[in-house]
Amino acid sequence: MFPTVNTTTNRKETLLAEIKALKAERNAVILAHVYERLEVQDVADYRGDSLGLSQQAAATQADMIIFCGVHFMAETAKLLSPQKTVYLANPHAGCPMADMITPAQLTTFKAQYPGVPVVGYVNTSAAVKALCDSCCTSANAVDVVKSLNTNQVLFVPDKHLGAYVQSQLPDVEIICWDGFCPAHLRIDLDDLTALKAQHPKALVLVHPECDEPVKDLADYIGSTTGILEQAAVCGADTFIICTEEGVAQRLTAEFPHKNFYTPSRSQAMCPNMKMTRLENIKKALLGQVPAVEIDAESFAKARHSLDVMMAIPMPKTTVSAGSAACRCQSKLGI
Ligand code: 13P
Ligand code: SF4
Repeated sequence: MFPTVNTTTNRKETLLAEIKALKAERNAVILAHVYERLEVQDVADYRGDSLGLSQQAAATQADMIIFCGVHFMAETAKLLSPQKTVYLANPHAGCPMADMITPAQLTTFKAQYPGVPVVGYVNTSAAVKALCDSCCTSANAVDVVKSLNTNQVLFVPDKHLGAYVQSQLPDVEIICWDGFCPAHLRIDLDDLTALKAQHPKALVLVHPECDEPVKDLADYIGSTTGILEQAAVCGADTFIICTEEGVAQRLTAEFPHKNFYTPSRSQAMCPNMKMTRLENIKKALLGQVPAVEIDAESFAKARHSLDVMMAIPMPKTTVSAGSAACRCQSKLGI
């Protein structure tokens, strides 16, 4: 016998009530990335992109952090809140891009370019962060590289975010590692071109992890939060969203009067970000998963790389007219 709709609804309500009670009892905060399932985001105290979640992890007064995201994000939360107990709600959720560079590989890369500073995307392990001069997220990568005031930078692991930084800072040579995000690379140029032809007035909002020909068709390039804010504030009502599919789902839920299209044949879905379910959150609140630990050798140096990034003023996510990263206003004739 399959459970009836009522049984399933009752079970979900019971689970939500248990999570609420455990959260209060443990003085826990739940942080969720916007690529997580909507039901997971809905129980979170804070949802956002990698930068926003890092800031929340650093600022929270809670004793316990339940992270709904992938492994490097929970490690970042632990680095920023060492005195707190941090759980990754589903300890199996990793990031294939972060796994594309190991400490040994980065050490060899650095040896080829002595003295050149290294900027590491937060999508890296703590051990890799420990070998970087600064971290960055997709929201502040350009600002971080600019702040180093140098004419060469090693950028790891995402070559597509690196290429975007290069396009914004032509005077700095960005030497990229060969990493990429499999989910964002699924966004296919032909698929996007066909969708644009169907909706010629739509604004195309693109994450910098996408391939360069996809970014070339963008009206706006920005982080997850940047895309969410741009869709909320700019005067258009039709958008093509080129990033992990969770972002378009969130936008559709929040702005039902606007139209959000995705290059649907592309299926830009991150399976790791969908691994967490409400049951995992309950298990983490009960301490039934291992707490995140970082070895002492990596800790101080990785934390330093994050501190260098966090010291840089918060970037503007909504970009003004005329910016190289935003053509929305000119397309709308504003
Ligand atoms: P942001 O949250 O920085 O936009 O990065 C997207 C991503 O792929 C996270 O894994
Ligand atoms: Fe990693 Fe890409 Fe998934 Fe983000 S969306 S966790 S970068 S694989």
